Formats: sequence, structure tokens, C-alpha cells
Amino acid sequence: MTIDWDNLGFDYIKTPFRYISTWKDGHWDEGKLTEDNIVHINEGSAALHYGQQCFEGLKAYRCKDGSINLFRVDENSKRMNRSAKRLLMAEVPEDKFIHAIEEVVKANAEFIPPYGCGGTLYIRPLLIGVGEGIGVHSAPEFLFTVFCMPVGAYFKGGLTPTNFIVSDYDRAAPQGTGAIKVGGNYAASLLPGEEAKEKHFSDCIYLDPATHTKIEEVGSANFFGITKDNRFVTPLSPSILPSITKYSLLHLAEHNLGMEAVEEDVYVDSLDQFKEAGACGTAAVISPIGGIQTYDDFHVFYSETEVGPVTQKLYDELTGIQFGDLPAPNGWIR
Ligand code: COI
Repeated sequence: MTIDWDNLGFDYIKTPFRYISTWKDGHWDEGKLTEDNIVHINEGSAALHYGQQCFEGLKAYRCKDGSINLFRVDENSKRMNRSAKRLLMAEVPEDKFIHAIEEVVKANAEFIPPYGCGGTLYIRPLLIGVGEGIGVHSAPEFLFTVFCMPVGAYFKGGLTPTNFIVSDYDRAAPQGTGAIKVGGNYAASLLPGEEAKEKHFSDCIYLDPATHTKIEEVGSANFFGITKDNRFVTPLSPSILPSITKYSLLHLAEHNLGMEAVEEDVYVDSLDQFKEAGACGTAAVISPIGGIQTYDDFHVFYSETEVGPVTQKLYDELTGIQFGDLPAPNGWIR
């Protein structure tokens, strides 16, 4: 297979190896790499009927010297286990999770995009409830798989700003599953996302489901803004997915850029306080927001065509660490 490294999108590409392990009778089997990319499961599997499933997203980076970096993989393990706990699924021990990821990355190493092209190897761990069942209860067995593929920018344009529209829909309930990474949240976002794209926006912005006054998520990424007095601000709520990228940016804004970095409410009628804004996440990395269509206004931040200087600096700091060009805080790189 020949891959055009400079023109990667965010699409499924079959790579040779994936990891699979089964939990049954109270314990995980050893797990193995397989070339079979078809998952064979019982038709009564709870994942299919009742959405008993969760997943993660992380990346492997090819460094200048040819070595391979994983970024904060332990945080993905912790988050997957928070998801598993909430959905009454078997947890995956952290050493098993990291071992599976390392095995898959090593086995598919030739598919990690070369240093300098901007691409990365996207890794998708998946945990699903399987086995015989039809009543609404937890599955008798669980499947843990990890597969991967080379990817480029998630939002078209990468570091070029794109526009978003505030949605009337909610992606998650106030005390529901918004803070864990389960497929149901993303299924609920398909129609709003499609409607936003039909109106020529990149995706939609979800407001808090209780009052519809505060910004929560930007499509499947988190929101951040840089205030005119140079603070890094990102919202906090029980229905926002806690992005590992967002927590990394909070740290970098404070420690590397000397900014005040806070999680606080972002009211949709207070967008004037920001000189720059962006979406962040593993897939999105940092995607500058050009403008937001609210219910009654189109609000432009820095520019609809150019990335702002603080957003650019944050991007350079984050990706510099991920690709091994800058020193990383303790424990961030494996
Ligand atoms: C990620 O940022 O890794 C995500 O999971 C977002 C999306 C591709 C579901």
C-alpha cells in the first residue's frame, strides 16, 4: 500500500495488526495481535443494543531521530477505566492497556507518518460488552481491542481557522455520560454535526444542557479561549469530556507561556472577552476557531483566515513536546 503522507485525512486505513483480548469469568486472557480486522460477536451483545461500549483516542509520533513517542498514554488508560466503571464494564489494567498499545504501535511502525509531514499514527482502543444477552444488564464478556492508522488534520485546514455554529441540540445530559468517552455521546452528535456542515460550518458548538447559556464542546473537541487580558480559559462541567490535550494546554499555558490558566464558565454572550479561540483534542490537536455563529450574531475572534499568535505558540509548544523537539514535563512521553 502506498500512502501519500503529505495529504492524509482523518479516515480509516487498514493497518496490518491489531490487538484483541477477552474478559470472561472474571479475568482477562493474555491478548494477542491479529491480522483480522473483523470483530465477530454475539448478536445479543450489550454493545450493539444498549451501547455498553467505550473507547479512547491517542497518537504515536515519529521523532526527528526516528524514535517513536507516545503522549500521556497513562491518562488514556485512566479515562477508559472511568468510562468502564460508569457503564459497569470490566476495567482494563493500566499495564495491559499500555502493553497493548505498545505492541500495536511496534507491529505497525511502518505506518507512522515520517517526521515533518505533520501526520501521526492515531490509536483507537475500544472496549465493548459482548456475549449472550437480551435484557438490560451488563454483558457477561468484554472485548478490548486496539487498532491504529495514519492520520492528518481532523478539521479541514489544520491550523487554518474554521467557523462553528451554536447548536440547539444537546450532546449529553447534565449528570449523564458527557464526561466519559462512550459511543452514545458521539451518536447523539451526528445529526447536529451534519446540520452544521450543511450550513457550511466545520461543526457545531454545544451549550450546557441545563441552561443553554454556556459553551461546552466544539463538535468532538473541547473549547478554549484566550482573553484580551491574556488568560487561557476553558469551560468545566460534568457533561464535558475531559480532554487530555486540554489539560496539557492548561499546564503549558501556565508553565511555559506564563499565563493565568483557568477552568471557568464561558457564557455564549461573553465571547467579546476573547481575542483568540480554538478547539482542542487528540484528533483536533489545536484547531483555531475563526468565528462562531450564535443564535443572533456571528462573532469573529482573531481572524477567519489566520491563526492568532497565542494559539500558534500553544500549538508549537504542544506539538514540539509530542514530536520530541522540546523537553516534556515529567511522565508525559513514553
Ligand atoms: C479524539 O480526539 O481522539 C476523539 O476521540 C475525537 C473523535 C475522533 C471521536
